Amino acid sequence: MVRTSFLLTFAFVLFVTTAPSASKKPVRAKNGMVVSADSLATAAGVEILRNGGNAVDAAVAVGFALAVTYPEAGNIGGGGFMLIRLANGDATMVDFREKAPGKASRTMYLDSTGAPVTEKSLTGPLAAGVPGTVAGLLHALENFGTRSRKEVMARAIEAAEQGMTVDRRMAASLAESHPLFARFPSSQKIFSRDGGPLKEGDILRQPDLAATLHAVSDKGKAGFYDGRVASLIVAEMEKGGGIMSRQDLLEYEAIEREPLFGSYRGCDILSSSPPSAGGGVLLEMLNILERFDLASKGHGSSQVIHLLAAAGQRAYADRAKYLGDPDFTKIPIQELVSKQYAASRSLMIDSLHATSSAKIDAGVVSDFGEEHETTHYCVADRYGNVVSTTVTLNSLHGCKVVVDGAGFLLNNEMDDFVVQPGVPNQFGLVGGEANGIAPGKRMLSSMTPTIVMRNDQPYLLLGARGGGRITTAVVQIIVNVIDFGMNIQEAVDAPRTHHQWLPDTVLYEPHGLVPDVMSNLRRMGYAFDLTLESNGRAEAMMIKDGYFYGAPDPREEGVALGY
Ligand code: DON
Repeated sequence: MVRTSFLLTFAFVLFVTTAPSASKKPVRAKNGMVVSADSLATAAGVEILRNGGNAVDAAVAVGFALAVTYPEAGNIGGGGFMLIRLANGDATMVDFREKAPGKASRTMYLDSTGAPVTEKSLTGPLAAGVPGTVAGLLHALENFGTRSRKEVMARAIEAAEQGMTVDRRMAASLAESHPLFARFPSSQKIFSRDGGPLKEGDILRQPDLAATLHAVSDKGKAGFYDGRVASLIVAEMEKGGGIMSRQDLLEYEAIEREPLFGSYRGCDILSSSPPSAGGGVLLEMLNILERFDLASKGHGSSQVIHLLAAAGQRAYADRAKYLGDPDFTKIPIQELVSKQYAASRSLMIDSLHATSSAKIDAGVVSDFGEEHETTHYCVADRYGNVVSTTVTLNSLHGCKVVVDGAGFLLNNEMDDFVVQPGVPNQFGLVGGEANGIAPGKRMLSSMTPTIVMRNDQPYLLLGARGGGRITTAVVQIIVNVIDFGMNIQEAVDAPRTHHQWLPDTVLYEPHGLVPDVMSNLRRMGYAFDLTLESNGRAEAMMIKDGYFYGAPDPREEGVALGY
């Protein structure tokens, strides 16, 4: 399947764009919209909407399509969180986060001296958590959708069966993962040709993945967690030193959880609840920021960057200490997201000086990782239902292992656990007991699928990829719209900063801070790091005055499509 011709079959499509948009105007549509990181997946979702499906049907179609067309992060071998708000006002979060296998242990990534072996939690089958995506997407479809599995999976299966043209984005990411793919023949078989990575213009064919998707389409959850596919997963484990068992797969269930609720300057906010840290950190930061008049200080001013950093330091310190899987750890989440708590956390914020992170809590400084993969997508339908979903394999192409014969990549989400207290993960995030490894436990996440409500109606749908930087990206886009009056595309495009408590530094994007703002902040005590990547890559939508406005992030090649 060639990307452009697939898109052109959608004669009904009125509005198509690939970020960046020169005019900074978001894409506009009247009846429904999908924003995702991939053109084919977006189109697959819009097709369902156009055929009368609701936002959940379309979101499930996008999820399965991404597993084929966006192997960097889209997946059936990983997990995620789907936030749903229906037109009748009901809201829920489908938690399909991966779980630690039953044989997992606290010491599984330590050597005989007790030192962490990072490689083990990142590459190869031992790094994989029990995948949740198939269970999560099917749970959403069965409980909130209106269409058949066959219908919502059709485009994904077609793309896997017929093959698709490798575009620039995919070629670049395959080249990046190639040295690690080379260690796994099952991965090489799919993503390499003649000993090198597939290149732009090559055709990526995924017949094994098509067969797996057919099994899911025919048999539902059992098509993945039982039978042939489950046997292939277990065989891959046995071959490569993994520990996931058939029992782990049979026992996996997606869980519906109540989203976290909060507010910001009169707008209601719904976001992800634990085992994602996203919503908690988001609300704590927004509650702190709400105590200051950001609008009068101006976007990009040293005072606003200072307040964003100060809020980040405090909320990420709490993340490290308190957050984990609520089924295993008691989490004071309601207190952390309360306005009173934000008031006490704000007391030490001094308008003239940075607070050293060491004074907020103790910890270890590390580098921020660079190659990671997650992806966010937003869907809204004409009936008033909205969905905001983030899925991930964790690193780029997960643990780099394709399950031989089943054709999909496994995640390396085990690295999101605290491998050892105080030792940072690949995103420089530290933590403790609350996020320690235990059999059957879900690892803490930063994913922040969010819905902002205005006058009881969905107003913003958004989320991002970028490890620990996801949540600060979501914070800044909300602030850009609500405090600085930007349209949704301007809000996504605007340069972002990031402070996650440890390391004690403000991470900024190229051209993201003007020199005199940096020197003011240096005088206040801040240190800086330039990121050559980005501070998160977001996908967002605004719903206003009867129109849907889509805003893909120019930091990636997302596509908003409406009809
Ligand atoms: O769940 C998490 O927080 C991480 N596994 C997310 C990884 C990520 O965002 C990589 N992104 N590009």
